[in-house]
Amino acid sequence: MPETAAPNPPGHGALAGVEPIPDRSVVPPVWSRYTDILVDHGEGSWLVSADGERYLDYSSGIGVTSTGHAHPRVVRAIQEQAARLLHGQQNIVYHEAGLRLYDRLSRLLPGEDWSAFLANSGAEAVEAAVKLARVATGRPVIITFRGGFHGRTGQTMALTTAKNVYRGDFEPLPGSVYATPYPYCFRAAGGAHDPAACTCDWEDQLELTFAQLVQPDHVAAIVVEPVLGEGGYVVPPPAFLPRLRRIADRHGILLVADEVQSGFGRTGRFFAFQHWDATPDIVVMAKGIASGLPLSGILARRALIERFPPGTHGGTFGGNVVSCAAANATLDVIEDEGLVDNARERGRQLLAGLRALAARHRSVGDVRGLGLMAALEFVRPDEGDGRVPDGALAHRVIAASLERKLIVLSAGTWNQVVRVIPPLVTTPDEVDLALRTLGAALGAAGA
Ligand SMILES: Cc1ncc(COP(=O)(O)O)c(C=O)c1O
Repeated sequence: MPETAAPNPPGHGALAGVEPIPDRSVVPPVWSRYTDILVDHGEGSWLVSADGERYLDYSSGIGVTSTGHAHPRVVRAIQEQAARLLHGQQNIVYHEAGLRLYDRLSRLLPGEDWSAFLANSGAEAVEAAVKLARVATGRPVIITFRGGFHGRTGQTMALTTAKNVYRGDFEPLPGSVYATPYPYCFRAAGGAHDPAACTCDWEDQLELTFAQLVQPDHVAAIVVEPVLGEGGYVVPPPAFLPRLRRIADRHGILLVADEVQSGFGRTGRFFAFQHWDATPDIVVMAKGIASGLPLSGILARRALIERFPPGTHGGTFGGNVVSCAAANATLDVIEDEGLVDNARERGRQLLAGLRALAARHRSVGDVRGLGLMAALEFVRPDEGDGRVPDGALAHRVIAASLERKLIVLSAGTWNQVVRVIPPLVTTPDEVDLALRTLGAALGAAGA
């Protein structure tokens, strides 16, 4: 910034007033786009644009800003750490923020013997889980679920089947990955049904995979999202994870829970798998872990994580010291402000409100959610069996919400799902406001 620059206009921060801001076309189109908002700053559940508009951010930056935008305690921790050290490379030094975080993460789950590994992004942590599973078991094969999303790197593309856009142009992909159906009760071949009385044939299909495609004793890991994220915010039937745990145990397969989107309190438990009686061997974490700074990791029993031979995995930036400081502050805020309980309570309020809205619109085929991971699935009720996905309508609902200053996102194979991802700090009034706005948006979109 030139020294003679005039101060920025009040409330418009550093973005406005000095040199013209480059045109948005400098950003390549590979970043597919929900809004044209030029953001200036965030506060709690709100984003404020450079022209002063306030948006209720129920995207949370795709499930990241769980403590809200710019939580003062997180910001302070980042500022203090940044002033001391920006980078303390993990192969070269130890730093206090990292040691504290490794220690705290290892105590997140019951039992003494958990241990963490830290990286940068969700995909990178999934890669770590797959590499660890392969090196620890000496087995090559990975089983995933149809509709799953695990990232966009080479290996994680091969695990991802939420939509063909994530992988279709990049064949050949790494092999020895087999995708089997997830229990998606609304889209079950036999008809939509209540997950509490699930009739999906996911278990038969998994057994068929073992019988036709791969010997179970060649399988290193089953990688599963405890709640399907990009694939449509699908909450599985209660028996799913416990059954999967037993099947994995029967064959000596490691169970990997990808909690990148569902973890860190989002579903009203610290990790989503804790809603059910099933403990994975490896838990993958990212997104909400550091309130917006890039950080990810895995949790596994110490005896397992120590099977990773020195040097076989790592990275220059993994476990960055400022990100670790942000994660420690995030854990403090989650604990001190009771954010897991808030996610559960606000989640109930949100789901009840969404159900009331859906009752007035036949084009809402399904309403589902767990904690603050909630969704509406749009259909063409008068076509086919009444479950024909309506991505165009979901798109109009998202656009009409944005016009009314509410940010929500899409999900699902046909983008037919509107997912609502509030920060865990959201208030009852904000949830009510979002529901009123969504109600107006449904009307305006012709739902
Ligand atoms: C369940 C799940 N796993 C992995 C990823 C990949 O994370 P990242 O985008 O940080 O690489 C995502 C991202 O949305 C996700 O939702």
